[in-house]
Amino acid sequence: MKDIVDQLEERRANARLGGGQKRIDAQHTRGKLTARERIELLLDEDSFEEFDMYVEHRCTDFGMEKSRIPGDGVVTGWGTINGRVVYLFAKDFTVFGGSLSETHAQKIVKIQEMALRNRAPIIGVFDAGGARIQEGVAALGGYGEVFYRNVMSSGVIPQISVIMGPCAGGDVYSPAMTDFIFMVRDSSYMFVTGPDVVKTVTNEEVTAEELGGASIHTAKSSIADGAYENDIEALLQIRRLLDFLPSNNESGVPTWPAHDKPDRVEKSLDTLVPDNPNKPYDIKELITKVVDEGDFFEIQEAFAGNIVTGFGRIEGSTVGFVANQPLMLAGVLDSDASRKGARFVRFCDCFNIPIVTFVDVPGFLPGTAQEYGGLIKHGAKLLYAYSEATVPKVTVITRKAYGGAYDVMSSKHIGADVNYAWPSAEIAVMGPKGAAEILYRTELGDKQKIAARVKDYEDRFANPFVAAERGYIDEVILPRNTRMRVARTLNMLRSKHTENPWKKHGNIPL
Ligand code: HXC
Repeated sequence: MKDIVDQLEERRANARLGGGQKRIDAQHTRGKLTARERIELLLDEDSFEEFDMYVEHRCTDFGMEKSRIPGDGVVTGWGTINGRVVYLFAKDFTVFGGSLSETHAQKIVKIQEMALRNRAPIIGVFDAGGARIQEGVAALGGYGEVFYRNVMSSGVIPQISVIMGPCAGGDVYSPAMTDFIFMVRDSSYMFVTGPDVVKTVTNEEVTAEELGGASIHTAKSSIADGAYENDIEALLQIRRLLDFLPSNNESGVPTWPAHDKPDRVEKSLDTLVPDNPNKPYDIKELITKVVDEGDFFEIQEAFAGNIVTGFGRIEGSTVGFVANQPLMLAGVLDSDASRKGARFVRFCDCFNIPIVTFVDVPGFLPGTAQEYGGLIKHGAKLLYAYSEATVPKVTVITRKAYGGAYDVMSSKHIGADVNYAWPSAEIAVMGPKGAAEILYRTELGDKQKIAARVKDYEDRFANPFVAAERGYIDEVILPRNTRMRVARTLNMLRSKHTENPWKKHGNIPL
């Protein structure tokens, strides 16, 4: 028996070495951890159960039969994060650059199927060069199998991708179909084809960072939802994110012990909105003062800052927050903000996370750049997402709710459950100046007359009561009581049950 145990230990030790010490050292020199080190940091101590450690590829082309490495470039299994089960796979860059072979794909598919069957989140850690070139169509077929399962799992279990090295081909397309992508600054890249191929095909000279670094994908392309300084910080933040997420679309949100009173009064919020309606303020101050213990996990912080999206908790339960940000472009809705908001709202709705919306929006951004860029279609995405969402929806208008953006930002008319307004709210078709200048165009030459018209419009519409008189606003609340009001309302909505008409699926304006 001892011999067999020794043999087992030897095989395990060999498999754990992946591509060998030299390649592990190279990984460390680049400031990256190995697949197994990453898993250790991501999961609760000693909770990792590995599968398929001895799987090897079956390729015999290009002399591949001479280099078989146990595990075949991906470490797979399950473990726990703060006690909750997650499935995961981590690409091992030390083995054929983490590239995907037929057997490598089978390992991932096994984990994807287990995660889906057992309704628990799946995390993919990527550091890999796409399809294994030596395997040709067998590798492409393998990716197809992975992609298909990404789609089947979408909306059933949360899928998270962490990009921790240079990733190409299938190793960017699979993440693209998951719910969230996080990157590491200066050591992770995502591109369909790398800089060398780009140079050959288009003659463009571009570095990996310029083509697909974290700065590009968090701020420009919006492919990534966030980026961190190094592997350790990234993995710890994924643990934090996971604590906010439900295990599946039927489990309900996780609830953690809360030490923050739901009826906490925040007097400072009474002066958050400046007297001058054109002066900005930071909507994140409102969010952090409303959530439990100021703990807010922001999604896509570096992209379309005019809308803020992210997770917080109220009375220990996860809530999704969407808020216009007056600090950036006055909180206007443009194409990017609409797409960002829509995707977040849909994620919350998939997984039954209640949505709280804070509104201060001067309208949609005018101009050719926006119109040519498809503002109509992108704005419609947000409208569609809010309208189809059946989760509890609570809206608080803090200041401006102008024009179509009033309707879009979780108004009563598109299915919000409870709509509050602060006394500073202004709900109208447009701002008083714009309105007066259109209604009284013939008086434009007379500054005094126009000023009086503006004042008239302000007095009539720059308040929440016209809407409240119609029942579009359920109550005008004191800013200081926002947390208490929202908490009570979410409790009241806890058993909300509503269904949209049966359909195969809707046709969101993609
Ligand atoms: C086999 C690969 C590989 C691959 C890397 N390696 N990618 N082996 N198949 N796809 C191997 C390298 O030969 C090398 O082996 C080791 O991994 C490390 O790679 P390096 O190039 O030395 O590392 P680095 O300079 O950091 O560059 C990483 C990289 C680059 C940017 C990922 O390797 C690269 O561009 N690879 C090819 C990417 C690609 O075009 N993949 C196919 C995509 S098509 P040694 O033995 O020297 O250590 C695809 C189809 C899916 O995925 C369908 C999508 C819809």
